[in-house]
Amino acid sequence: MEKHTPTREEALALLENFTRTGALINHAKAVEGVMRYMARKHGEDEEKWGLIGLVHDIDYEIFPEEHCTKTKEILEEYGWPEEYIRAVVSHGWGICTDVKPQNLLEKTLYTIDELTGLVTACALVRPSKSVNDMKAKSVMKKWKQPSFAAGVNREVIAQGAEMLEIELKDLFTDVIMDIKYFVRVLSFLKYFNPPVYF
Ligand SMILES: [Fe+2]
Ligand SMILES: [Fe+2]
Repeated sequence: MEKHTPTREEALALLENFTRTGALINHAKAVEGVMRYMARKHGEDEEKWGLIGLVHDIDYEIFPEEHCTKTKEILEEYGWPEEYIRAVVSHGWGICTDVKPQNLLEKTLYTIDELTGLVTACALVRPSKSVNDMKAKSVMKKWKQPSFAAGVNREVIAQGAEMLEIELKDLFTDVIMDIKYFVRVLSFLKYFNPPVYF
């Protein structure tokens, strides 16, 4: 396919073509929502940031051993711009690729990928099971308990925060706001049926 700027419909179709697991689709959409919010906050291209977030893990269900490498191939085949592909691949820096996040978009994706998991896990253990009444302080508390959401790579998040030159607490506040925004906007647009914990 010829190089072109992808649409959300296209990105979503691609995600659904390669991913059937509900949790992975929800993760992709959560990352999309956070990326959109962050783009808006920094006056960047919201659509571009969002779509990169949406497709960042498209190879994970079918090719977990070749994570990022296969996504690169798929996006190339579908004519995605080089800039989008590089950004997607850089989220696996130090884990499955040596493409280091360089610009604000890439650093943000790298940082919030794992963090959305931690924030959702924190929401799930609240009586309300929601991010609505959640504060950065409670994420910070769970952050300090390595046994809580043990699968979340805290080192990646800390390294990302350092790259973005932001305090962890401020980053947590941002991501809580991001998820609220994502639920409001995306479910309003009928892009997404939020799971109970949002
Ligand atoms: Fe990934
Ligand atoms: Fe991810």
